[in-house]
Amino acid sequence: MSVLCAHRGASGNFPENTMSAFNGARSVGVKWIETDISLTSDNQLIIFHDNKLGRTARGEKKISNLEFQDLKNLDIGIWKGKEFKGERIVSLNQLLLWQEKHKISINYEIKFQGLDKVRVTSLIAQEIKSADPNKIIISSFSEDILKQSIHNLPNFEHALIAERLPGSWKKKSMELNIQAWHLNAKNITKKMINDIQSVGLKVRVYTVNDKTIFEKMTVWGVDMIMSDYPESFYIG
Ligand code: G3P
Ligand code: MG
Repeated sequence: MSVLCAHRGASGNFPENTMSAFNGARSVGVKWIETDISLTSDNQLIIFHDNKLGRTARGEKKISNLEFQDLKNLDIGIWKGKEFKGERIVSLNQLLLWQEKHKISINYEIKFQGLDKVRVTSLIAQEIKSADPNKIIISSFSEDILKQSIHNLPNFEHALIAERLPGSWKKKSMELNIQAWHLNAKNITKKMINDIQSVGLKVRVYTVNDKTIFEKMTVWGVDMIMSDYPESFYIG
């Protein structure tokens, strides 16, 4: 059975990566949430997907050029609907506390745009090291970030994210010492899933909002399916 994971929280019906999206996912009953970690210029780890403002919050500056105090009062809910007015950016620390309180598992994707990999991964390690390794996955599109994170947090599961499985996936998996691949469901085949699982690694896919694709992924036996609409797919 594939595990259902709420992508950026229940981000189809709530503003992504906000407490309302995380609580929305929790109220559905899902056990896993995917979310994105970014870093401000004053070394604060925040939950935010884009590398700059503009889509979910007013402004146009890059996150890495802003301090937390520039960001903490921004409204990141109203773009999704008036009823979400006043949603604020969540810090990693705040989300870790919420996660522990509600016993939810989280797949933390480390965003890497322009970040110093040593700095971002050591800050993340300081915050995550006392959390339960069974309830956390660390993932990234960046091999450098993952390498550094695996060094800092060897007891936590790590996964490389890729739009497409590279031909050298087996060698890369061994070199990096990852436990899973997170792949775009659009570019995956049953054979890829079987091959990856046959060497003891897990396969998780993003972002599946279509019922037919969801069913295909389940039949093909992926380990986890990330969806913006956990409400549509949760079966208990
Ligand atoms: O973690 C998988 C998925 O979230 C990667 O893409 O852009 O939605 O963060 P993105
Ligand atoms: Mg993500």
